[in-house]
Amino acid sequence: MITLYTIKDLQKAVSTSKNEEKTIGFVPTMGALHQGHISLVKKCCEQNDVCIVSIFVNPTQFNNPTDLEKYPRTIEEDTKILKEAGADIVFVPSVQEIYPEPDNRQFDFGQLDKVMEGKFRPGHFNGVAQVVSRLFDIVKPDRAYFGEKDFQQLAIIRQMVRQLNIPVEIVPMPIRREDSGLAMSSRNQRLTDDQKNEAVNIYRILSDSKALYNQKTVDEVRILVVESINKIPFLEVEYFEIVDGNTLQQIVDWKDTDYAVGCITVFCGEVRLIDNIIYYS
Ligand code: PAF
Repeated sequence: MITLYTIKDLQKAVSTSKNEEKTIGFVPTMGALHQGHISLVKKCCEQNDVCIVSIFVNPTQFNNPTDLEKYPRTIEEDTKILKEAGADIVFVPSVQEIYPEPDNRQFDFGQLDKVMEGKFRPGHFNGVAQVVSRLFDIVKPDRAYFGEKDFQQLAIIRQMVRQLNIPVEIVPMPIRREDSGLAMSSRNQRLTDDQKNEAVNIYRILSDSKALYNQKTVDEVRILVVESINKIPFLEVEYFEIVDGNTLQQIVDWKDTDYAVGCITVFCGEVRLIDNIIYYS
């Protein structure tokens, strides 16, 4: 495995591989890697001749400067586990390398980025689209891998790829969970043991609610989930919406869609956790 820091070096490596007719798989990350990321890397290695992983904490997707500052940076550990997972190239560019001048592009994702995360983190998805489109332009991957935990991000990236006609296959990967059910996330490192013990209730309550979808109305299920989670110490729901998995618009009746997903964000103390559950598809 090699680590490259500049676009020039990365493009040289990519062009050598393309000349040899090798397929390129790409896993964009912000580092602080966990087993969720590793499952993407392993799938990427399995499906492509070359697996490239980027580690770049993208400033344009943080609407809160403290969040950007506090984002864990664990590059040595990350490099070690990427090597073990079989990655071929790790790309670790500087902010100057990715944004030699400010990126002022404004994307229009219609309603997709106006709801849920988009409502609570204005500008977040525009920043994600800026960096991912830039990275796609540099890496020119055949396939790129994204986790389903960031359900809305995945929908937006698919839309961006369609809008910009980028010739890449987006490969979604299922949520990886701890044995307790807690969705793996770089942010879990910031939970105390007590908080972690309570955070497992998020998935438990979501899973239990799955059994109710044909017995209760959408709104009854939504309220039950929110009230049950809010009763648990440390936990406070920011939003829980039951949406159509393609349009991300809230449904009123189960009959409104054949793909219903519950998307949730919960504060556990100061730590913002996200998760989702597919009711049916
Ligand atoms: O999901 C993430 O870690 C980031 O949003 C991504 C896709 C690497 C873009 O910075």
